[in-house]
Amino acid sequence: MGKTAIVTGASSGIGEAAALELARRGASVVLAARSAEKISALENEILASGGRALAVETDVSDKASVERMSVAATRAFGSVDILVNNAGLGLSGRVSELRPDDLRHLFEVNVIGAVNCVQAALPFMERGGRIINVSSVVGLRAIPMVGGYSSSKFALNALSDAMRVELASRRISVTTVYPGTTQTSFRDNSRRTSNEKRGWRPSGVPPEKVAEKIARAAEKGGRDVFVSLHDRAFAAAVGLFPGLTDLVLRSWAKG
Ligand SMILES: NC(=O)c1ccc[n+]([C@@H]2O[C@H](COP(=O)([O-])OP(=O)(O)OC[C@H]3O[C@@H](n4cnc5c(N)ncnc54)[C@H](OP(=O)(O)O)[C@@H]3O)[C@@H](O)[C@H]2O)c1
Repeated sequence: MGKTAIVTGASSGIGEAAALELARRGASVVLAARSAEKISALENEILASGGRALAVETDVSDKASVERMSVAATRAFGSVDILVNNAGLGLSGRVSELRPDDLRHLFEVNVIGAVNCVQAALPFMERGGRIINVSSVVGLRAIPMVGGYSSSKFALNALSDAMRVELASRRISVTTVYPGTTQTSFRDNSRRTSNEKRGWRPSGVPPEKVAEKIARAAEKGGRDVFVSLHDRAFAAAVGLFPGLTDLVLRSWAKG
């Protein structure tokens, strides 16, 4: 691939798998997350397998930290070609009970974090490039008990749509990836409002499957990327039958 890719949230789950897949395809990968030890171990793993990687401890919600990461990336690899905005966390709870501080934190990471990364990377994307934002299927249709989380992904989608048009003349494509349930530590790392029960979820796909879609988008671009046929069907059905979806989802809101 011969490109430089920044992957946020590279210490775990989808971000870790995406970084490994991008490195395997020949990208120089900048591993950005707060867990310094984990990204350092991943850097060593990629270097040991003959790839190129740089771990930079980063808090995406902290603009100065993101700017330092972007400068370090450019010093090491010359430019930035691909930005994967993957860092994020969840929040469960009824909208009527959400704590403002939890919702604020979620937006600081899931939304403002992505904006911080875009703004820090763009000056170094002079040759064009790709921005890949990791949203969620619940960023297309909010479901009960995760309305706050869904709203952060809706906001991310809106930013993607605006940027796609704004950056087209700079030859920078913007892709939104909509994973469904993925087998990562996401649930453990999510905030909870109270002791709410979590509704049924599909068993999910391994993070490598999402990573493969991200890596393909890094190579070929694309607008909206779904990971499975099931996710694509969900998106189509909730778009066509919003009222019926409300009725079906009522049972989830009871717990
Ligand atoms: N798993 C799912 O079912 C699923 C479904 C749809 C969408 N997604 C989305 O996929 C993305 C990755 O989630 P995942 O499933 O891989 O969960 P995960 O295993 O919990 O990984 C989350 C990553 O985000 C990073 N992160 C959190 N806060 C950060 C901050 N302030 N600054 C920098 N990095 C931060 C974490 O690293 P540190 O803690 O080291 O900072 C970690 O690497 C998220 O945007 C999530 O919303 C997940």
